[in-house]
Amino acid sequence: MQNQQFDTVRAIVWVDGELRLLDQRRLPQHSEYIVCKDVGSVAEAIKNMVVRGAPAIGVTAAYGVVLAAQACYRNSPQTWRKDVVTDIDNLARARPTAINLCWAIDRMQRLFLDIEGDPYPVLLDEACEIHSDDIRANKTMGELGKSLFTESCAVLTHCNTGSLATAGFGTALGVIRSAYAAGMISLVFADETRPWLQGSRLTAWELVQDNIPVTLVAEGAGAYLMKQGEVKWVIVGADRIAANGDVANKIGTYTAAVLARHHGVKFMVVAPTSTIDMNTPDGDAIPIELRAQEELLMFSGQRIAAVGAQAWNPVFDVTPAELIDVIVTEKGVVTAPTVEKIAALFH
Ligand code: MRU
Repeated sequence: MQNQQFDTVRAIVWVDGELRLLDQRRLPQHSEYIVCKDVGSVAEAIKNMVVRGAPAIGVTAAYGVVLAAQACYRNSPQTWRKDVVTDIDNLARARPTAINLCWAIDRMQRLFLDIEGDPYPVLLDEACEIHSDDIRANKTMGELGKSLFTESCAVLTHCNTGSLATAGFGTALGVIRSAYAAGMISLVFADETRPWLQGSRLTAWELVQDNIPVTLVAEGAGAYLMKQGEVKWVIVGADRIAANGDVANKIGTYTAAVLARHHGVKFMVVAPTSTIDMNTPDGDAIPIELRAQEELLMFSGQRIAAVGAQAWNPVFDVTPAELIDVIVTEKGVVTAPTVEKIAALFH
């Protein structure tokens, strides 16, 4: 087995009172960190895809709250709790679909009332805990997901759900790392994932670094790929899971789920419970981010679409619970998800 489980990539680093974010727009050609010294630059980095992936956005937002509170306290120790609200609202609006963003901000805000004096040390501790909890959850999900394999097979994954999309190790990619190490995965097919190419730029890069064999496919190849019979599992992450088990994830996930059911391929969603939103009853209530048309009309700064054509660019879709065979969380595995089974995770 060649897998050495490097998992050395870290998208989010807090050092010397500064937040450093690996600029994922430039990978894999360039590996550069940008420095965020204030909450405004953190919100911009999330909006502009410097950092992306639901859990990574949550961790980043937690550090954003630290920077916001620190600045407001320095400015006015008496009124920082009130002053910080505008910054936090702006941060929460950076991207609408990934619930981890609001989940992390809520968790940070819950501490505000009990803080006496300088909020910096208490909030920094909490942000660091959110950061390390996420890695722990991913390792647990890796073990749980691995145990669902009954034979060595090829798998298909979509978007990027690895160390880059999380605090480290990854959700769906964490299961893939663990199952590969256990000899249960022979090959990973990665969708290239248009228009940001998270599959070809990021997932392929992470897997190559871990010596896990990866073959890229265009999303349009999914049906034909599954018909060959080699792929036994589709494994994806999630940006928000509704209370009934419907899953919002990168656009194209729903397509893969429909194709998987048609071809008798199992469909696994891997996400920490911080991605489950019990206040969203079902997938219809999940806000789906629409991004700029230019992301489809242009490529590398060049117009590629016919002049005069418009583009529709929803960047997430919703896979209904009935198409999902299993949801893996750090609190346990839910097969054939229902409202009751999802609620039971929190009891
Ligand atoms: O637009 P992105 O790159 O932030 O979308 C990311 C995804 O859709 C991931 O699949 C999801 O966040 C799960 S990441 C562990």
